[in-house]
Amino acid sequence: MHALDVVCFDPPFRFSRSAMRRFAEAKRARVVLAEEEQILAGFVILHREESAQGPVGYVVTLDVAPEFRRRGVATQLMREAERLAHKEGCLALALHVFTENHAAARFYAQDGFLRAHREEGFYGASRDAWVFYKPLRDSGD
Ligand SMILES: CC(C)(COP(=O)(O)OP(=O)(O)OC[C@H]1O[C@@H](n2cnc3c(N)ncnc32)[C@H](O)[C@@H]1OP(=O)(O)O)[C@@H](O)C(=O)NCCC(=O)NCCS
Repeated sequence: MHALDVVCFDPPFRFSRSAMRRFAEAKRARVVLAEEEQILAGFVILHREESAQGPVGYVVTLDVAPEFRRRGVATQLMREAERLAHKEGCLALALHVFTENHAAARFYAQDGFLRAHREEGFYGASRDAWVFYKPLRDSGD
């Protein structure tokens, strides 16, 4: 997973190996992997977090290997992340995207996410993030 993150993100957006391990192995973490013939095509790390509105599934990272892109891998990973979050009582998914990461912003927008506010300096000085969120169906559905 760390090797794929290095391919997907330039510094300072990529995680260190130890940070990746910490995020993926946290008690509140759920990790979904996409594999094809034992090759890691992509993964998503989801954390269950408490917010003022209730529990939220926070997407820590979503990575798809370049050679597997535009084949619906991220879409499938997010469907499974949504299913897990909903099952664990989360009311919404939320995430940060670097404001210059237009590909990811387009992906999330077409996946039903709504763009909320801009968080200045989220990724360091002069590197802002958009907060995206997606309400999930009521648990009673
Ligand atoms: C963003 C990312 C996760 C998308 O993964 P993917 O598996 O290629 O996405 P999908 O194939 O499921 O794409 C579904 C739709 O999203 C949109 N989309 C995906 N990538 C896009 C791009 N580069 N430009 C514009 N739209 C894009 C398209 O509408 C696409 O449908 P289409 O291929 O029929 O046109 C992948 O490009 C990636 O890993 N990027 C580097 C890491 C990153 O930025 N992660 C997200 C930030 S947290």
